[in-house]
Amino acid sequence: MSESPDGIRVEGLTVRYGQTAALENATVTIRPSRVTGLIGTNGSGKSTLLNSIVGRIRPSSGTVRIDGRSPSSARQRNLIGYVPQTEAVDREFPVSVRDVVMMGRYGHQGFTRRVRPADREAVDRALERVDLTALAERQIGALSGGQLKRTFVARCLAQEAVHLLLDEPFAGVDKASERTITRVLRDLADDG
Ligand SMILES: Nc1ncnc2c1ncn2[C@@H]1O[C@H](COP(=O)(O)OP(=O)(O)O)[C@@H](O)[C@H]1O
Ligand SMILES: [Mg+2]
Repeated sequence: MSESPDGIRVEGLTVRYGQTAALENATVTIRPSRVTGLIGTNGSGKSTLLNSIVGRIRPSSGTVRIDGRSPSSARQRNLIGYVPQTEAVDREFPVSVRDVVMMGRYGHQGFTRRVRPADREAVDRALERVDLTALAERQIGALSGGQLKRTFVARCLAQEAVHLLLDEPFAGVDKASERTITRVLRDLADDG
């Protein structure tokens, strides 16, 4: 019997940074249309696992399949949206919340980066989902930690990818933002 390839499958994954084995022979299946939590102590390899799934890290051995595809193929097909644990943001750079969320649409815009009505609508929907509509024109340098994290979650939502990976979405985040992010993830899973 052949199994459905839907979801994320990691098999026998080993990742080394020099001499350090960050992951050793890790096997995980993440099924679609549900919220799955990954829990572990600091340094246990959670970020390494997510980075391997999105193809930012090349494993020493093992396989990663997203709906049956390799990480690079999955990225080309917009199967994966990703919110990294830490984002190298220049808070002084004059960019608004809306600008950051629009970055989630780059993959839809082709190389001309022409913004279409569908892009604007996806950005508006994402901002609404994380309660940032009122702050859309604010510079990111003037956001709280929770608001900034919600901005990155909104960018990920605007991408309209199939699977969303969030690395420590509640770190440094206020309770209200945590509730908002939790609700969004549950709603998306309930909607399939
Ligand atoms: N770029 C890196 N270079 C060397 N070691 C790293 C690097 N990134 C992570 N590690 C090490 O790999 C292990 C797993 O780290 P990480 O995946 O970040 O864990 P977690 O996200 O669960 O806190 C830790 O021992 C960490 O110190
Ligand atoms: Mg981590």
